[in-house]
Order: sequence, then C-alpha cells, then structure tokens
Amino acid sequence: MKSSAIKSQPTIFIIFGGTGDLNSRKLAPALYNLFLDGWMPNEFSIIGTGRTNLSDDDFRTKIHEGINQFSRTGKTTESKWAEFSKNVTYQVSDAKDASTYKEFGKRIQQHEAEWKQEANIIFYLAVSPNFFPIIASNIAKAKLATNPDKARIVIEKPFGHDLETAKELNKLLSGIFDEKQIYRIDHYLGKETVQNIMAFRFANSILEPIWNRNYIENVQISVTEQLGMGERGDYYDGAGAMRDMVQNHILQLLCLVAMETPINFSADELRNRKVEVLRAMRKFTSEDIRSSAVRGQYSTGWIEGKQVPGYREEAKVNPQSNTETFAAVKFFVDNWRWQGVPFYVRTGKRLHQSSSLITIQFKDVPHFVFPPEATESWQQNRLIISIQPEMSIRLQVQAKRPGLDMVLNAVDMVFDYDGTYTSEAPEAYETLLLDTMLGDQTLFMRGDQVEAAWDLIMPILNAWESKKSLSFPNYAADSWGPEVAEALIARDGFHWFTLPLSNKKK
Ligand code: BG6
Repeated sequence: MKSSAIKSQPTIFIIFGGTGDLNSRKLAPALYNLFLDGWMPNEFSIIGTGRTNLSDDDFRTKIHEGINQFSRTGKTTESKWAEFSKNVTYQVSDAKDASTYKEFGKRIQQHEAEWKQEANIIFYLAVSPNFFPIIASNIAKAKLATNPDKARIVIEKPFGHDLETAKELNKLLSGIFDEKQIYRIDHYLGKETVQNIMAFRFANSILEPIWNRNYIENVQISVTEQLGMGERGDYYDGAGAMRDMVQNHILQLLCLVAMETPINFSADELRNRKVEVLRAMRKFTSEDIRSSAVRGQYSTGWIEGKQVPGYREEAKVNPQSNTETFAAVKFFVDNWRWQGVPFYVRTGKRLHQSSSLITIQFKDVPHFVFPPEATESWQQNRLIISIQPEMSIRLQVQAKRPGLDMVLNAVDMVFDYDGTYTSEAPEAYETLLLDTMLGDQTLFMRGDQVEAAWDLIMPILNAWESKKSLSFPNYAADSWGPEVAEALIARDGFHWFTLPLSNKKK
C-alpha cells in the first residue's frame, strides 16, 4: 500500500520560489491536503526559500493564507494547522551563493540526526527557468544530491524555450543527476481525469478493437480558457500558446489517446510508449504549416457584462506583440494504428468557455437503414472525455425517440465523477507531490519525451516567429477563436466539438 510505504520515508522538501504564487496556490495547499489525508510521512520538513527576508512565522502566515484561499478542502482547522505548520520553516537564500547550499546541508544533517535515518530530499524548483541551471549546479557542488535513491529534483515548466535550450538543460541535469532523480512536471498528467484515460483504455476490452483508423474518423483535443493574461504578461509574451500549452499538456493528452498498450504500468514502460507516439508524428514542411497550423490573438470583448482588454493592452505585454494567444494544429500519427486519422488540437485564452475535452469521433455507419425523415438529427458516434470542469466520459449513440414514429436522435451514455463517487478528486499537485515522495516517475516527463515534443513543434514556432501575423488581433474575447481555426477543420468536413453550457460544472 502506498500509504504505509510513505509513512516510513522521512522527507525534506526544499522549495525554491517559496514566497511565490505557485507555492501559495498549489504546492502548500497540496502538501497540507496530503497531510490531512494521512499521506505525509511521519517525519517531514518543508523549507521554503527565496530572496525575501522572512522569519519562519512570516512564511507560515503567508502559506497559511494561500492554503485558506486556494485549498480544495477550504480553511484549515486550528489544531491541524498547528500540527502541520510546526514542520514548516523558511531560509532566506541567494541561489547563486554557495553558503545558501551549505546552510541547506546543515539543516538536512540536523533533521537526519534527529530522525536517525537518511531522508528523501526533494528540491522543488518553483522559480523562473533561468535559475534552473545555477540551482542544479550548486546542489551538486554542495554534494546535496549524491544518493540517487534519496535526492530528487523537481523542475517546473517551461522546460526549455525551444529544442536547443531543452537539450542544454537536459544535458546539464543529466551531468548532475540520474534520470531517476529528475521529475519534470506537467501538471496535466496529475489530473484525475487524465490518469483515467489510461484506466479507460487499458482496463476495458471493448475499446481496443475499435481504437484505430478502421473505426475512428478524427480525434479532437480542445483546451479552451476564459481567463486572459492576468499578471503573467512578462512570461507569456515570450512564450505564446504553442509553447505554453501545446508542446506540453496537449501533446501529452494526445500521447495518452494514441499510445500502444504498455506491457505493464511501470514508469519507463509507459513513457516508452508515449515517446513512440511523438516520434511517429508527421513532421511539418513549410507547405504543411500553412495548411495545418493557425494562430490567433485576442482583442477586447465583453465577458459576463464587463469589458476586458485586448492582449496587446494587457500589463507587461508588448503593444505590438506578435505572440499567439490561440493555436490550432492538425497532426497525424504515421503508424499502422492511426494512419490517415487527423488529430485536431486547439487552445486559447479569453475564449467563450473554459473546458478541456477530448472527442473521439467514430466513422459513420456503412449503410443507412432508416428513412431520411428518421435521421434528421443524426450524429455519428462520439466518445467525449471531459477533463474539466465537468469530469465525465460520454458515449454518444443513436436511440429511438419514444413515440409512434421511428425518429432517431443522439443520446449520451454518461459516466460522471460527481454522480458516481462521493469522494472528492485530489488536485493534480497532490498526486504529483505524493509520487515525488514515493519515487514514482510514471506521471512525469522523461528527457527524451520533452525533446521529441519540442522537435515536433519547432518548424511551426520558427515559421510563426519569422513571419509576423498581419491579422492580429483576429478574435474577440468571449468568442471561440479566429475564423481560420474553424476553416482548418471545416475544410476536412468536420467542426470543433463543444459540450453545451448546461453540462458545464461551474
Ligand atoms: C499552465 C499554463 O501550464 O496551464 C497556463 O502556463 C494555463 O497558461 C494553465 O492557464 C492551465 O492549467 P489548468 O489546470 O487550469 O487547465
């Protein structure tokens, strides 16, 4: 059992970027919830670190506020918070300074002496990527990660800015750590519904015979967001939707849909199958890019009665920015299973709905038995995996509408988390932090996966960077994105699928 395995592994978390947003919103609430649910080891220590000069108490207050505001379990209780927070401390640090790491070394030794055991040490890099190399190198110089079975480093996204920088970072990290010590985060992989794609595909015998080009007409992966830039303009304006969402989250979802069945559920077995998908994906020529990849940028619009700024008016964004806030791409996976099946993906900010959907559209029946008047609202079978906000799997089939006429319409057979389970799904970061403690890399990206994903999208990024879009901004906030994205899929005779608002969980 995971829970007994974890209890006996004393663990020290050193969180770089401890005073940052990610820690307040995600990491601290996740660690607290793991604690509440009995998943934290008997002995643990969370050391937040950053440049700001804070006392332990200041730091505790800061993350306490974060937990109270963002935890799925709501506000803390006094007794649980007291129990948890006695394990939380702060160390002011300069990531470039060797004395910082000496201090960590001392603290590690003190804890280990007190616990009378070697501890798992998890260095969590929740900092801007330009600090990754310096922190990793200093950890190595201070000899804090010499035991490959105990010391781990967690790298937040973005992992590289392009193929070259991702390769450089991989090279640097692999010169210091074993691959089994490196945890590259893609938080989508920790989402409950995303993990369920594997359960759904590989624990049900009825799917495999139809999960291929003979039955599937197209696959759509749509990750749309209503939010705009917020405070992240400085990062996002140098990234854009392809880097921010497609290179990582969306390609990971695509791999889960397209991968072959693994022999078992071990981390490398699964990651081998996924990397095979990326390697099988058709490379883009400049001609393909024009017909298979489109970009967009939002202009002002009205959301829930309020006017929101266009992208170029957002804080910390270049007023002439050429950065895409929307991307749609048609991919192909050139292998026996998927030859000829288009995989359409789209993502964007400031769109009409926030939702993440994977839609598998099946081919039509080979012969129509029913008269045309019976089939006016005919729809091909679809399997819709709704990742968020609704957490469900829907199979759309045709059924006879009750009545004396033979009239067919599409109905949904639904597996809905809310209706099926009473327990609440953990947050992605809870799953991922627990796996980091357990040393399970199944839901983390391996170095070759990250590089294969960059390799695939580099031609698109290069083409877009070298040619400024003259049409930006080309979609209004609260729309479904630019018209070119509709045309991309309509040219093949399909349309983007959305779940009606009534199905949306607010
Ligand atoms: C992050 C991106 O990785 O994922 C953000 O940087 C995006 O721009 C976010 O908003 C979406 O994650 P989620 O879990 O809200 O779908």
